Amino acid sequence: MKKLITLMLSSMLVFSLTACQGNTISETESKESHTKSVESSSKEQSKSKESSNELSKEQSTKQKDNKSLVVYYSSTGNTKTVAKYIADETSSDLFELIPKELYTNDDLNWNNKDSRVCIEHDNPDKRNVELSSTTIDNWDSYDTVYIGYPIWWGIAAWPVNTFISANDFTGKTVIPFCTSASSELGESGKLLAEMTGTGNWQEGKRFSSGASKDDVVSWIDTIK
Ligand SMILES: Cc1cc2nc3c(=O)[nH]c(=O)nc-3n(C[C@H](O)[C@H](O)[C@H](O)COP(=O)(O)O)c2cc1C
Repeated sequence: MKKLITLMLSSMLVFSLTACQGNTISETESKESHTKSVESSSKEQSKSKESSNELSKEQSTKQKDNKSLVVYYSSTGNTKTVAKYIADETSSDLFELIPKELYTNDDLNWNNKDSRVCIEHDNPDKRNVELSSTTIDNWDSYDTVYIGYPIWWGIAAWPVNTFISANDFTGKTVIPFCTSASSELGESGKLLAEMTGTGNWQEGKRFSSGASKDDVVSWIDTIK
């Protein structure tokens, strides 16, 4: 009986040792295969990182090659909103034209013949609006310039004239855009082009006063 118990105990020990070894082997195997798969996935990741770095280098070179700027004047914020959408969509820099003497609501009241805009409208020699700045840093680096303005009496609001006259657009693609209650872009872009005499002026685009981002994105898609 004692012999039988000893025999049973020793065969149980052999089984349990084999089982432990089995576990140990499969753990090692799984550790190895895990290490291998981590290595290969980290290799893949670094490969894809390299290629995405290459892509972003390429993109930034592209952006450098096609640097664009959105310059705008906005008296009540509508053109500013569109300008920001364009800058977002085209990765352009943004520059706001700010009159030294800002237009108040009273100044903009076209129903009052004595308001600032009415006086300026009736006297073109009074439309020389001084701006805080007309100088753009690294102006030469921009290939494309979007110029935005509200329509005033069918033409570009004249504060943009000061910027247009002060800069040389030679070698640049110039794309006018405007917001208005109902008027079209009309001759506004053409008149600005004639004013500077430089730059490759495009047809441009008119947006309604409350234009949405989708309106802007759809237009950008057509000129990309
Ligand atoms: C003095 C003045 C004249 C305007 N003349 C016109 C016009 O001739 N045609 C038109 O459709 N809208 C006209 N508007 C409306 C503006 O073009 C429109 O509200 C525009 O979106 C304003 O843009 P902003 O908010 O960027 O200044 C005029 C507005 C002002 C203040």
